[in-house]
Amino acid sequence: SADPRVSVHPDSSVLLAAIAARLITKLVDTQDRYGEATVVLTGGSTGIGTLEALAASSARRAVNWAKVNVWWGDERFVEADSDERNSRQAARALLDDLPLDPERVHVPGAAGEFATADDAAADYARRLAEAAAREHAADYSDHRPDEPGALPRFDVLLLGVGPDAHIASLFPEMAAVRETEKLVVGVENSPKPPPSRISLTLPAIRSAEEVWMVVAGEDKAGAVGLALAGAGPVQVPAAGARGRSRTLWLIDAAAAAKVPVEL
Ligand code: 6PG
Repeated sequence: SADPRVSVHPDSSVLLAAIAARLITKLVDTQDRYGEATVVLTGGSTGIGTLEALAASSARRAVNWAKVNVWWGDERFVEADSDERNSRQAARALLDDLPLDPERVHVPGAAGEFATADDAAADYARRLAEAAAREHAADYSDHRPDEPGALPRFDVLLLGVGPDAHIASLFPEMAAVRETEKLVVGVENSPKPPPSRISLTLPAIRSAEEVWMVVAGEDKAGAVGLALAGAGPVQVPAAGARGRSRTLWLIDAAAAAKVPVEL
């Protein structure tokens, strides 16, 4: 896939508005072409902040939300009604106010529904494979005949980045970031609370057409700098994220402080 592109915005509020505007355009363009579009969301302040910026934009009405498929890159394995759930924060920030088709919104399972994060991960993988099979006959997936078919098409996948360079729930040096076979894993002992999580793996992330890294704040500058300098993904998970056709870093000036000069 192509080299990463970096777009720097002056501050986090401009950044969030810019990501929201890009996302609207991306969804409208994809729907013009395929009739539907698929986005993979992220939790964290930038991920949820992007949804709040979308909620504040009247241009969001240009999207046919009933034909948008929503997945999560990771979810926190806690009770379904917990405010710690990425999906619940997303619902509050935006999704509850959109005319989405509930059958197209795919949230990983919660504690209470599944005994372990591993069980919820296996269920999520099953639902991804079912969606892939449903899409198989449709034009929407026709231009990707080389795919093994265990994942649906991801038009755009958003990822926040932690100060330690984690993405989704793939933390440095942990088993999940080394995974090469499974597309979804349960994660225990996450250094960022809560400790139990469900996450797409790097192979699943790399199946996305476009990956957008969305990052704000000076505490992220080191992680962003290392990722763009080409560090190894086991130490710097963000370095391992890329899209099939595009990898876009959408960052604010504070997070860009250590971006290598040749970029
Ligand atoms: C989560 C995430 C996580 C997040 C990063 C960045 O469950 O919190 O999905 O990967 O995106 O930790 O979060 P911030 O934007 O809040 O720093």
